Amino acid sequence: MSTQGDIKRLTAPDILTRKGGDPIVCLTSYHAHTARILDQHCDVILVGDSLGMVMHGLETTVPVTLDMMILQGRAVMRGSQRALVVVDMPFGSYEASKEQAFMSAVRVMKETQCGAIKLEGGKRMAETIAFLTERGVPVMAHVGLTPQSINTIGSFRAQGRDESDWARIEDDAAAVASAGAFSVVIEAVAEPLAKKITAAVAIPTIGIGASPACDGQVLVLEDMLGLSPRVPKFVKRYGDLAPSIGKAVADYAADVRARRFPTAENTYPMRTKKP
Ligand code: KIV
Repeated sequence: MSTQGDIKRLTAPDILTRKGGDPIVCLTSYHAHTARILDQHCDVILVGDSLGMVMHGLETTVPVTLDMMILQGRAVMRGSQRALVVVDMPFGSYEASKEQAFMSAVRVMKETQCGAIKLEGGKRMAETIAFLTERGVPVMAHVGLTPQSINTIGSFRAQGRDESDWARIEDDAAAVASAGAFSVVIEAVAEPLAKKITAAVAIPTIGIGASPACDGQVLVLEDMLGLSPRVPKFVKRYGDLAPSIGKAVADYAADVRARRFPTAENTYPMRTKKP
């Protein structure tokens, strides 16, 4: 349990107790200032490896490194006080062995002081999840569409649209739940399957492009704010910031070019010496 002032930060066990209760509100953040805004409304702030695309303009999350995650994880911890901060483990930092996963997770937790980590994969990661949780690392799992596998799956297409695919995804969710994950992200999965998994597992499901029946929802902040050039079909736009930023920048550029900025209010007058 970590506290700062009078505000108690939510923990992974707090989120686990929300199964079947009030929906869990989660958004991504990679910066101190957006984390401060989210903290008033979100139960969980995810420092997602989507930062590779959102902050760095990468095509996929594959090139993201542990150092990149740690740097932004520290910023988000600095900006927030109440939400549980979960930091994504990037591709290559945990898949080789449970020991590799533990050493990477320890770095993330010590250097950011976040409350939990997230990793992608179902059955294949169950042994690792058990190893981590038994050693003090709370794990949020991630099944369905797992973007770090883009080079083997070939595209970011929705999962479970054919009933013949359901058993594999259901088994993945069941495996991470029995391994000790405190919650599981279900990404881009047909709604009836997400509903079925949510009813079947004892841990909260956090949907992204899944079902409103999930125990919570997550979106990439910049996607829902209208700042990302391309967004998946399942994203609802709650804001349209790109045109406002464009207009503010155009107004500034026009003022600079016309020497209308800085004005007297934005400059420092000389001190007048008393006689
Ligand atoms: O990296 C990320 O932002 C994520 C969410 C999309 C769940 O994993």
